[in-house]
Amino acid sequence: MRNVTKDNITDVFKSYMSADMAPRTRELLEGLVEHMHAFAREKNLTHDEWRQGIAFLEGCAAIESEDRHEFVLASDVLGLSSLVDMLHSDPASTSSSVLGPFHVSGAPPLAVGGDMKRDFGGPILLAEGVIRDTDGNPIPNAEIDIWQTAPNGLYASQDDDQDTFSFHGLMTVGEDGRYAFTTAKPAEYTVPSDGPVGAILNACGRHPWRPSHLHYIVKAEGFRTLVTEVFPEDDPYLDQDTVFGVRNDLVMRYVEKAADEFPDGMAISGKVQERFLHVNFDVTLAKD
Ligand SMILES: [Fe+2]
Repeated sequence: MRNVTKDNITDVFKSYMSADMAPRTRELLEGLVEHMHAFAREKNLTHDEWRQGIAFLEGCAAIESEDRHEFVLASDVLGLSSLVDMLHSDPASTSSSVLGPFHVSGAPPLAVGGDMKRDFGGPILLAEGVIRDTDGNPIPNAEIDIWQTAPNGLYASQDDDQDTFSFHGLMTVGEDGRYAFTTAKPAEYTVPSDGPVGAILNACGRHPWRPSHLHYIVKAEGFRTLVTEVFPEDDPYLDQDTVFGVRNDLVMRYVEKAADEFPDGMAISGKVQERFLHVNFDVTLAKD
């Protein structure tokens, strides 16, 4: 095509694509370009604004590293990560939520009733629940990968004072589908805001805070793997999570209880002298 115009360029783009393309690749690229072109036309995108967009992408690439995933963060704060999650979440299961950049594979086994708090400060949080199918039956031998921040709001990978797998544990539940562990209550924290994504947050007049949460990946044979989070209902950032991860069914009450209400059968039973927090969070998995 020699006479490319602002009105036909989208169709010209499509006409340049090979007939041998993988159908899904074609569908996605056509859709992406249609929307990009429509965006530029509708907003009358200027050269200067186009350059700012390119500079943003270059800034993300420059800061990207094994420990800093600026493109994922951009997707998170723009709501794209959560939107993709929700598009593929099974409505019969517990809601999914963002994986985030702090999951570390290979966490050490944590027995049912085990403790992740160790010598860290703050009140004990006892988290427990049952992994169920959509009919309410417990799922035996389900696996739950748990991770969270220390009380200082830092994940192990961000904090030289923590071991690699501090506040990480991999639990396999028994025949009753029940999981339980003690930990320190995770803290609310800010996503990294000293890069290009921080500049976008600033431009929007937004803060970088996420509400406190426990992260779970729950797996069981024959069921869809669920990546989710658990939030306390009194967190100040619940209604403004900067990565849009909060769903109604993931907001739980953390009940404060007296030391003598601490149950038997936990690794630290008999050693609890102070009031503790208790959250009951059952997880429903949909069939594969
Ligand atoms: Fe997190």
